[in-house]
Amino acid sequence: MRIPIIAGNWKMHKTVDESIELTNAIKRSIYEIEDVETVLCPPFTSLSDVNEMIMDTNIKLGAQNCYWLNEGAYTGEIAPKMLKSVGCAYVIIGHSERRAMFGETNETVNKKIVAALKEGLKPIMCVGEKLKEREANKTFDVIKDHVEGGLKGIAGEDMKNIVIAYEPVWAIGTGKIATPKQAEEVHKFIRELILKMYDKSVAEALRIQYGGSVKPDNVEGIMKEADVDGALVGGASLKADSFADLIKKTNALGKG
Ligand code: 13P
Repeated sequence: MRIPIIAGNWKMHKTVDESIELTNAIKRSIYEIEDVETVLCPPFTSLSDVNEMIMDTNIKLGAQNCYWLNEGAYTGEIAPKMLKSVGCAYVIIGHSERRAMFGETNETVNKKIVAALKEGLKPIMCVGEKLKEREANKTFDVIKDHVEGGLKGIAGEDMKNIVIAYEPVWAIGTGKIATPKQAEEVHKFIRELILKMYDKSVAEALRIQYGGSVKPDNVEGIMKEADVDGALVGGASLKADSFADLIKKTNALGKG
């Protein structure tokens, strides 16, 4: 049994005050939910305040990125150790926006995953193809490259602390969600790849999130698929109503 995991990636949204307001509203709306793991990933500047507010709940804290070293002359970077010290349990690594705009590669993703695990953080590793790659029938090649590259040298025993998020780039922020069938075939492919790289128990325990235009009105279709274990949510996580709604709908599916 894999507990569904819904994470809100707030991206570069919300000041501290706005983060507090949103967290309060989310807390109030989902206090009864027990069978879905909920993660909030606010910007770095709000981590500490959000952490204070969710300490007495089941909600977990996540960051949106980290560096691969724990200290040094790296102006503007944030270390895994620092994220741990403000209460983070998770860290998103290799989001397509970071790959596209900030020079993230499989190599940097891999270094960050190693560093995060060492500090006891759980990486949410993002993988996903661009529209051009899908149209050229390269989806599975890209996913294989991202998964194998990002997980290079990662031991089977560490895999229980890793979540993979399949985020087709063409579905992010576009309102054009992958169909349940499109999502499931990639999720299944990832699980089979993990089976080849590790073993059956690792593959069966791995949680694979879908991300890209997930909303309350489409979450059930996606979540019903056998290999979809959660969602990484952007836009719909910025409003308490929509985020709580999709968590409740996921909970009602009884997958946990
Ligand atoms: P949207 O839900 O806004 O499409 O963003 C998805 C995403 O990138 C989550 O990491």
